[in-house]
Amino acid sequence: MAQKTYGIDFGTSTIKVYKKGQGIILLERNVVSTVGKENKPVAIGEKAYEMYEKAPPSIHVSFPLQHGVIAQMQDMVALWNFMASKITGNRKMKGGEFYIAVPADITEVEKQAYSHVIEESDYKPRRIHLIDKPIADAYGLGLDVQKSNGILIVNIGADTTEISILSLGGIVVTKLLPYGGNYFDTQIISYIRKQYNYIIGKKTAEQIKKSLISVFPTEQKLEIVGRDVLKGLPGEIQISSKEIHPGFSDTFDTIASSVRSMLEHTPPEISQEIIKKGLYLTGASSWIDGIDRLIADELNINVNTTKEAQKTVISGLGYLMDNPRLAAGYAVRLE
Ligand SMILES: Nc1ncnc2c1ncn2[C@@H]1O[C@H](COP(=O)(O)OP(=O)(O)OP(=O)(O)O)[C@@H](O)[C@H]1O
Ligand SMILES: [Mg+2]
Repeated sequence: MAQKTYGIDFGTSTIKVYKKGQGIILLERNVVSTVGKENKPVAIGEKAYEMYEKAPPSIHVSFPLQHGVIAQMQDMVALWNFMASKITGNRKMKGGEFYIAVPADITEVEKQAYSHVIEESDYKPRRIHLIDKPIADAYGLGLDVQKSNGILIVNIGADTTEISILSLGGIVVTKLLPYGGNYFDTQIISYIRKQYNYIIGKKTAEQIKKSLISVFPTEQKLEIVGRDVLKGLPGEIQISSKEIHPGFSDTFDTIASSVRSMLEHTPPEISQEIIKKGLYLTGASSWIDGIDRLIADELNINVNTTKEAQKTVISGLGYLMDNPRLAAGYAVRLE
């Protein structure tokens, strides 16, 4: 059997898998539900997410990745085993080669943990290459990474916002902020609890976020179902974009000012090119309405957005695995 090569972007909210020769083969929620002391998985991805907040106490629903690092190793391995059996149709993918994207601004031990997921799984690897996420992101955007003097990428994901500056094929500076889509979901849940005495689930919060959150508030409104804490019964309330907006403006401002501060501390020969080409927004939370305009106003530069924002990292891994010599130059070396 031919050796298979896979790329994996373990996102906090979504795992993306690329198979050499085929492209992106999987985009699945990073959730696993398990039973018993041995943590035997019963569902992963969207199915496991559906169980969240509904599952009986005997089922444990886990989000194994938090803030860009693996928080629950055993659950992450169980999830990967489940996914790998889905990908291979239950055949063991023995001796596979793996390219894994890791946040650049985490410790070596935390980076190594991503390799352990594959090493500890039922699908023993032949080789693992860790690639810093901003590098994969830049290749996924189709940029000339080796020749560009300055590239600024802001990846707004689920638990993290990764701001990175690249030049001539290397990372000049990178910073991981603890903000992203999950943070907004949590804020929405506590606002509705405080304001209306209603309890809503994470899924409803995500739905509210996608329809109502905007950097510049809109006239948009949404009917939602929750549980009235005082009556103990389900009920409906109407939420508007305007009322939830104040709770988010500080976070948007923090992201924008962190990007500005990073650009201000960049040597002029690099910032010059960034200003000329504009910065790049990636990660699915960059689809929040108006975030591009806010950053453009704050920095007074052009902001490039993409419909592929959720897939740039995994597409970049795909590009690198098709160009293994190039990829070898980027492999993260751990002590
Ligand atoms: N249309 C949308 N508008 C706003 N947010 C969105 C939209 N679509 C998805 N999201 C949010 O984007 C986040 C997922 O983005 P992404 O897949 O880039 O993150 P991730 O890679 O899993 O996380 P991280 O990179 O932080 O580890 C989720 O919080 C999701 O709710
Ligand atoms: Mg991500």
